[in-house]
Amino acid sequence: MTAVSNHHVTKSIRPNILEMAGYAPGEQPQAGKFIKLNTNENPYPPSPRVVQAIREAAESSLIRYPDATATCFRQRAAEVLGVDPDWILCGNGSDDILTILTRAFVGEGELLRLPYPSYVLYKTLGNLQGARSEEVPFQNDWTLPDTFAAPSEGLKLAFLPNPNSPSGTVINHDDLRRLAAQMPCPLLIDEAYVDFADADCLALVREFEHVMVSRTLSKSYALAGLRFGFLVAQPTLIQQLVKVKDSYNCDALAIAGATAAIDDQEWLRENRQKVIATRQRLHQALEQLGFSVIPSQANFLWCTHPAVPLEPVYQQLKSNRILVRYMKYPQWSDGIRISVGTDDQIDALLALLPTLM
Ligand SMILES: Cc1ncc(COP(=O)(O)O)c(C=O)c1O
Repeated sequence: MTAVSNHHVTKSIRPNILEMAGYAPGEQPQAGKFIKLNTNENPYPPSPRVVQAIREAAESSLIRYPDATATCFRQRAAEVLGVDPDWILCGNGSDDILTILTRAFVGEGELLRLPYPSYVLYKTLGNLQGARSEEVPFQNDWTLPDTFAAPSEGLKLAFLPNPNSPSGTVINHDDLRRLAAQMPCPLLIDEAYVDFADADCLALVREFEHVMVSRTLSKSYALAGLRFGFLVAQPTLIQQLVKVKDSYNCDALAIAGATAAIDDQEWLRENRQKVIATRQRLHQALEQLGFSVIPSQANFLWCTHPAVPLEPVYQQLKSNRILVRYMKYPQWSDGIRISVGTDDQIDALLALLPTLM
């Protein structure tokens, strides 16, 4: 039998995958020292209890497969959130939760709805399913039109990040409740950044069986490298979604670290205060430099500039080893998204910026 050439093998890939570009994550330079303000990581080290728990787990639990549903994490998180453990599904980062939901709800040719601009991965997940995506543009004040909750042929799932990325804005509780009540399909409220916001939407999960909330430990718990996120939804839904996930989607070290992290709410409160204080200071300083900055409820700021082109500013910051995220949305303005760093990191940014503009 002659070997099939690579060219032919590529042809066997499903057409929707051949056609898609693939998700491009923010730059993660592996060499050299950068001030990293481009992927909304937390600039501070995690709770020391996390490192301790991971060390203990590394010594004691690597031989065995991990607990498939991360029971100890769910028990502790349930207490913190005021739900029962069977309302929680854990994932290898909240991206894993988004994947599980897309696979569970959206089939080939069906429709996924998302706001625009928002988290770019949602559309990629739809593409992987061979599904269609419908992007509903935010209005000028970053609210959503009622069409976000309108019925549509084949509509199977809607994603709504709240706070949104890249804007850092939130849909207020009353508007969100109204959208949720009208929504003709399951609605995932992606609360990746909610610990930096004034309020969350867990009450809507209790109220509506089609509403789910996802959370991550990557941002507010400073654990982006650990990969741990979770979903809160009604138990009948969780029971179905468990079937879709990889058998052991969270490893033993991640479960141990995440459980210690959620257990240290005092660390979370202090970290949140520090990040929010720096966010305020950065916001004011950027406005003084002539940027238009949207009030943010997340750990980053979205800035545009009425006069200065921002792509060269991003490039020059990068040559000076400061990474921010430059984003250019077709039919929307371009801008830079700056993650809230430590005070020292933000001072370095603010010292350099005026010289580049
Ligand atoms: C809106 C939103 N959701 C989810 C995620 C994914 O977070 P993780 O997979 O690290 O939990 C991100 C990460 O940038 C995000 O911006």
